[in-house]
Amino acid sequence: MNAPQSTAPRKRVAVLISGRGSNMEALIAACADPAFPAGIVSVISNRADAKGLERAQAAGLSTTVIDHKAFAGREPFEAALSAHIEAVGADIICLAGFMRLLTAGFVTRWQDRMINIHPSLIPAFRGLHTHERVIEAGVRVHGCTVHFVRAEMDDGPIIVQAALPVRPDDTADSLGARVLTREHQIYPLALRLLAEGKVRVEGNRAIIDAAADDTPLITPPLSA
Ligand code: GRF
Repeated sequence: MNAPQSTAPRKRVAVLISGRGSNMEALIAACADPAFPAGIVSVISNRADAKGLERAQAAGLSTTVIDHKAFAGREPFEAALSAHIEAVGADIICLAGFMRLLTAGFVTRWQDRMINIHPSLIPAFRGLHTHERVIEAGVRVHGCTVHFVRAEMDDGPIIVQAALPVRPDDTADSLGARVLTREHQIYPLALRLLAEGKVRVEGNRAIIDAAADDTPLITPPLSA
């Protein structure tokens, strides 16, 4: 007998990228399962040369370029972004390597409906070049985080984190490659929880409903 499928409509997701789009691809792969509670309705890039656009098109997705340089400032750029996202009827925004800071106005408009993936265990190592900085700092544990977006960069209630040990011989590249593998696992997991309505925000914390108790929110065990 087949497992019962949810009859709830799939949440409509807009994915925002600026580059290669490997996290977007992980989301595409997850959404390819008809039982997954979300589907991608649009991939938007602020750069026409983003490699991820080709990947999205190869997957048969609708892509749009909204070049921030074509606008006089952040607000008009974000107004165009919002207009497109609303036109495609998105319920959720996934930032996947989207390299523009968003204003408080845009963030508030999408409060608790917009998530991001960051290659560190926030609140440690926000910002760029996280793997280099982790090695430089000599910390023993590193990882990645999917979190709700807030106006402060790489900040917001944490939905899922993956942790892994930093090896003595790690370079930024070797460490970054292992973190990226985990990113591709936790982003679909976090989107699923959100799309299923299992995540709610209380203050600075994202609470996962008891029904999702069997979901490993810290992954994997620290042996990887
Ligand atoms: C990832 O490391 C993500 O965590 C960060 O930007 C990178 C994007 O990579 N926000 P990709 O475009 O998803 O391959």
